Amino acid sequence: MKGAFITFEGCEGAGKSTQIRLLAEYLSKNKIPYTVTREPGGTKISESIREIILDGKNTAMTDECEALLYAAARVQHLADTVKPALDRGEIVLCDRYIFSSFAYQGYGRGLDMTFLKEINRYAMEKFMPDLTLFLDLPAVNAFARKHGADKNDRIEQAGEAFHNRVYNGYKSLLNEYRENILPVDCSGTKFETNEKIIQILRSRGLIS
Ligand code: TYD
Repeated sequence: MKGAFITFEGCEGAGKSTQIRLLAEYLSKNKIPYTVTREPGGTKISESIREIILDGKNTAMTDECEALLYAAARVQHLADTVKPALDRGEIVLCDRYIFSSFAYQGYGRGLDMTFLKEINRYAMEKFMPDLTLFLDLPAVNAFARKHGADKNDRIEQAGEAFHNRVYNGYKSLLNEYRENILPVDCSGTKFETNEKIIQILRSRGLIS
C-alpha cells in the first residue's frame, strides 16, 4: 500500500493535536497503518533542537538562527521518522511542517521568503506533503481556547501582533499554495471537524 504524508497547520490552540488524535483513532479502527509525529521534534536529535528553539531563556536567538534550527530539525526528522514510515507504506500525520516556517518565520518574524525556501529546499523537493490541512481558527480565538500563552514558550510569548501576522500569513499561503493546502473550518465541535477531515482525505483518495 502507498503511504501518504499529511501535515497539519494552524495557530497555537487551533486544535491540531486533538484532530490528529481523533484521526489516528479512526485509522486504528480501520486498520490503516500510520505514524503520528510532530515538528519541531519527532526524533531524538530534533527533540533536542526543539528544546533550544522554544526555551524561553533563549531571548538572544536571532530570527535567522531560529529559522535554520527549524530547518535542521526538519531534515533530521525526515530521515529518522518520516521517510522510514512512508517507505513502510504508512500514513504519516505530522503536526506542523514547512508552512509553519513560512507563516511564523516568514510572515511572523518578517524573514525573506527566498531565504526560507532555500534553507527548506531539501524538504520541499523531496518531501512535499501529499496534503496540508490548515485548521482555520484566528489566533485570538485559538489562544482563548488554550487559556492564554505559555510563559515558558518563546514562540507563544511573541505577542498578539505576531500571532495575528502568522494567522494572516497562513491565509496568504492558502492562496499561494492552493494545490497543497486546504482550510478546515473548525468552528464546530471537535467531532464535526474530525468528520470534515475524514471526508477530505477520502475525497482525495488518501484513505479508503
Ligand atoms: P508546539 O508546542 O508544538 O506548538 P503547537 O502546539 O501550537 O503546535 O510548538 C511549536 C512551535 O514552533 C509553535 O509555536 C510554532 C513554532 N514553529 C515555527 O515557528 N516554525 C516552524 O517551522 C515550526 C515547525 C514550528
